[in-house]
Amino acid sequence: MADIENLQDGKNFYLDVPHRNPTFELKGCGSLEWGMKNRLARIFDPRDGRTLMLAIDHGYFQGPTTGLERIDVVIPPLLPFADALMSTRGALRSSIPADVQRAIVLRTSGGQSILKELSNELVAVDIDDAIRLNASALAVQVYIGGVHEHESIRNLSRVTNEGNRYGIPTLAVTGVGKELTRDARYLGLATRICAEMGAHVVKTYFCEKDFERVAAGCPVPLVIAGGKKLPEPEALQMAYRAIQAGAAGVDMGRNIFQCEAPAAMIQAVRSVVHGQETAARAYEHYLSLKAEPRSCEYAQR
Ligand code: 5RP
Repeated sequence: MADIENLQDGKNFYLDVPHRNPTFELKGCGSLEWGMKNRLARIFDPRDGRTLMLAIDHGYFQGPTTGLERIDVVIPPLLPFADALMSTRGALRSSIPADVQRAIVLRTSGGQSILKELSNELVAVDIDDAIRLNASALAVQVYIGGVHEHESIRNLSRVTNEGNRYGIPTLAVTGVGKELTRDARYLGLATRICAEMGAHVVKTYFCEKDFERVAAGCPVPLVIAGGKKLPEPEALQMAYRAIQAGAAGVDMGRNIFQCEAPAAMIQAVRSVVHGQETAARAYEHYLSLKAEPRSCEYAQR
């Protein structure tokens, strides 16, 4: 019973220091429960409230997407440069090392393919499997204005309710059908509905005009998808403009893993998201990293 024998009276009570109630600065998340905040802080770097999420979940409806044919080969070298990885459970279990030190954002909705109506999704992952996978957030697609709008909002509600029981936040992904215009009015509608339904983070697309209104109208952090592959300077410019207009980061896939030099590109995007770099300087950074591939192998976050 050494502990009892050596017990000493505590004396460092800092009697002149009032108890500190820590604040949580992430947009709209100050009133959440401790576990939620802790998981969100794994996704959004508490130093600047931003995130670079790498999206690799495309196979859930597209099959072997260009650049993701071999996730086990292509993705692990990129992980040191990401804050979070958005993945399906299948890709995670089969192809991502379990000792990865990055937050996992787990895709939970699915059930369709590119051959059929895209908005026809269901909740494909139970909460207990998400917990087994140590998910930091649950991602669910929402199709506002889509054929299956109602079902997709029901999926969002179900995933959010289940996540809330265990302190796991929900990322609502606004899916845009071919027939819908990606303008600020539509994106503002879709993102706000997701937040009001309880999503803790919302993913959407960037729009050229009035994106700051979309960001301001969404009371929780907004991250943008990259969309189809663009020339690198344009992708960096889009990320830069989104951040300047109030986005809390990117959840980018094809513009990173379909790039000729993915490890260089993810670091360039990182410099925009976390380093306050302009798109032009980030592109210079990309070119110099691309010319020196070993710097991408060994550089760590
Ligand atoms: C599919 C998704 C994808 O994760 C996301 O949109 C892919 O990112 P990117 O558009 O940058 O390739 O949510 O609906």
